[in-house]
Amino acid sequence: MAKSRPVFDGAKLALDGGVPVRTIPWPTYDNGAVCVDDNDCFAASRVIKSKLLYRYDFRDIDDTEAGRLENELAKFFNVKYSLAVSSGTTALSLSMMACGIGVGDEVLCSSFGFPASPSSIILTGAKPVLVEVDENLHMDIDDVKKKINPLTKAILMIHMRGQAGDIEQVVQIAEENGIPLIEDAVPVLGLKIGDKHLGTFGIVGAFSTQSDKSMNTGEGGFILTDDREIFERAIVLCGAYEGRLERHCKGWKSTINQYALPLYNFRMDEIRAAVARTQLKKVPGRLNVMKENYARACSIIEASPQLRIREPVWVILFYFRLMATMLTRRSGSPTHSTLRVSSADPSPI
Ligand SMILES: Cc1ncc(COP(=O)(O)O)c(C=O)c1O
Repeated sequence: MAKSRPVFDGAKLALDGGVPVRTIPWPTYDNGAVCVDDNDCFAASRVIKSKLLYRYDFRDIDDTEAGRLENELAKFFNVKYSLAVSSGTTALSLSMMACGIGVGDEVLCSSFGFPASPSSIILTGAKPVLVEVDENLHMDIDDVKKKINPLTKAILMIHMRGQAGDIEQVVQIAEENGIPLIEDAVPVLGLKIGDKHLGTFGIVGAFSTQSDKSMNTGEGGFILTDDREIFERAIVLCGAYEGRLERHCKGWKSTINQYALPLYNFRMDEIRAAVARTQLKKVPGRLNVMKENYARACSIIEASPQLRIREPVWVILFYFRLMATMLTRRSGSPTHSTLRVSSADPSPI
């Protein structure tokens, strides 16, 4: 006979001495592992068998895995340019460096994020200035306005835990102040507002393909932009040395002085690029599963008078670690959110 599972009745949280819903420990599998299949194995071994593990060899860029991945990413996200890189952190730093951010500059950064985000600002030599979040853990618009000063050279908006903040307002503030908006779109890979992907609202969007993310290549990342000059600068800074920039310039002549830029090796290799290509195909399916899980988790949590779910600025936003689907703007409702452990204790979890 099947064992009956304890049901969460909403009366008392386990934290407060209630009956735990789980009687066995949470499984310790790695998130990404469940999405690695024979296609990924085939892709990785295809590259190893070819013995061409490095993206900038004798081949035309469109014959390399990294080049093909970049074409496929640009198509998937509906942007002009994409560049594959070594991690989400390097994607973020590179985005800012390509915008000219460096020593002496300040970059506003959401305070609800992952340490990699402010760290990526430090890597450029600039100073991260943390912006408060509102009660829904979204970037606080008033605090953004308050903290902008003549040293502010960019805004780094983090779409933390799969929820987009008020991107329209932040785009407007960035435009009014003539500074670039960079999106840390790591936790929202594949998520859209209307028909526009998050990570394509700012001047550059940065993504990770580390194993915890919606694409799993172990480590890795990419940037997206429609700005050709920023793209060209990013290519060089990323490590396209001795004229390799030209390989990326399809049908146009580069206008930047590539030899005036430093070269950092933030490049992606061919094995990971090949795996990223198969992983990209799985993104829509993974997002659907996350959406179902989120709906299920919410339906249970909503029953509790003690728990409250973080309210999104954009509705039909599904988050349960890394969650996404199509979004539309939430109309006129106040944003009250945050999953709290109890109504008496305002600390978000
Ligand atoms: C919001 C956010 N930004 C950036 C990163 C950094 O990505 P990576 O680990 O690929 O450097 C992470 C990683 O978890 C993240 O959650």
